[in-house]
Amino acid sequence: MRSNVLAAAGALVAAHAAHASPTATEKQLPNRAASLPTVTASGNAFWTGKERFYVRGIDYQPGGSSTNEDPLADTDTCTRDIKRFKDLGVNTIRVYSVDNSKDHADCMQQLNDAGIYLVLDVNNPKYSINRDDPEPSYNDVYLQSVFATIDEFAKYTNTLAFFSGNEVINDKPATVGSAPYVKATTRDMRQYIGSRGYRKIPVGYSAADVSDNRMQTADYFNCGEADERSDFFAFNDYSWCAPSSFTQSGWDQKVKNFTGYGIPIFLSEWGCTKNTRDFEELSALMSDLMSSVYSGGLLYEYSREGNDFGIVELTDGSDSVKEDSDFDKFKSALAKYPAPSGDGGFTSTTASAACPTTDTIWDLGKWGQSALPAIPDGAKKYMTEGAGAGPGLTGDGSQNAGGTSTGTATPGSGDVTATSTGDNAGTGRPAPPMDMSFLAVTGVVGFFTLAGTLLL
Ligand SMILES: *[C@@H]1O[C@H](CO)[C@@H](O)[C@H](O)[C@H]1NC(C)=O
Repeated sequence: MRSNVLAAAGALVAAHAAHASPTATEKQLPNRAASLPTVTASGNAFWTGKERFYVRGIDYQPGGSSTNEDPLADTDTCTRDIKRFKDLGVNTIRVYSVDNSKDHADCMQQLNDAGIYLVLDVNNPKYSINRDDPEPSYNDVYLQSVFATIDEFAKYTNTLAFFSGNEVINDKPATVGSAPYVKATTRDMRQYIGSRGYRKIPVGYSAADVSDNRMQTADYFNCGEADERSDFFAFNDYSWCAPSSFTQSGWDQKVKNFTGYGIPIFLSEWGCTKNTRDFEELSALMSDLMSSVYSGGLLYEYSREGNDFGIVELTDGSDSVKEDSDFDKFKSALAKYPAPSGDGGFTSTTASAACPTTDTIWDLGKWGQSALPAIPDGAKKYMTEGAGAGPGLTGDGSQNAGGTSTGTATPGSGDVTATSTGDNAGTGRPAPPMDMSFLAVTGVVGFFTLAGTLLL
């Protein structure tokens, strides 16, 4: 049952936080723990103030991916589990989908009080980029949902980062074609955060454990102009299977390959259940073997969901949680391998990568190496007006809805203007005004040739 006292306090936090800085919220509620310091990305590392921040976390998806539940909108659920997170000693959880029509103040405050940050996916099965047919799914209805999620979570100081996508590109070669739409979403999220005056919450992509395209994916999300690049990169990794080591697992190669990458990296899922687990992954992840390139990671995962990855078993419809022996082993490993002290040998300069060249594995079709779709016309107004109420998890969905993008973005402008005209097929809305900026490139003769062609 939801506690009315907590619910009221939660509503108070939400009401104030919408209009005030976190510091003001903290002052207005002196009876609660102070707000956690915000995490920033700088160079190739995360920071709380001058202290380096390492993700020492666990993925939290009670009910599994198919149930599409929001564990942070229900006080009973999060209270039950946050005390276990605290007992484990994690400092971060990842949540895969949330209901952006609901209030999260209570669970976020409980996480805060336990010293825990949130890395949040902004997608859910109904509101997401469709990896098999991405173009129509990148539309204004989708972005409204994404932005509404940002509105709800930007106000909590313990929101560490947002994932713009999770494993949209997977081991099916054709899914590489979804990359420009996920990158455009990443760009739009960063722009929305800036336009709405929120603090600079890091935005990045969580890549699948696919060795064929891992490096291209990483380079792609960190290439191009500053307004198009991610704040960090993360990937899922299942290659360290106990008993193993830094070199045996191949993690040494993943340090080598990402040396000089230029933005923070962490493992958004790690773990392997082939053999008896010992969580010795942390011996490398929390040491100077990796700290110059990696900022920790998240164990996959908290609850057992039809596979062996979980470390607790949840009993449906009750408060009961059974902690498996892996729970204690993970807790011991976290205690045995604390975060590295000092700066971990980070790199202070942020760097970008070259956009990957097109080949048989990496082919973005009409977008070439680096072009991106412009933000859909219908979504531009959210930058100035805000997104408004979120559709939640049970709305009509976005994948075949709304106005789609009608042009190619101008990199580096940070603008939201389409640069080519187009019939906004199926939306019933007029085409955007023609942008003449290409005159500078094509010249006047070129323009009249083009105009003539269009008129004939
Ligand atoms: C390291 O990079 C090389 C070259 O891109 C690639 O062939 C190899 O698979 C990468 N190794 C890992 C472990 O990512």
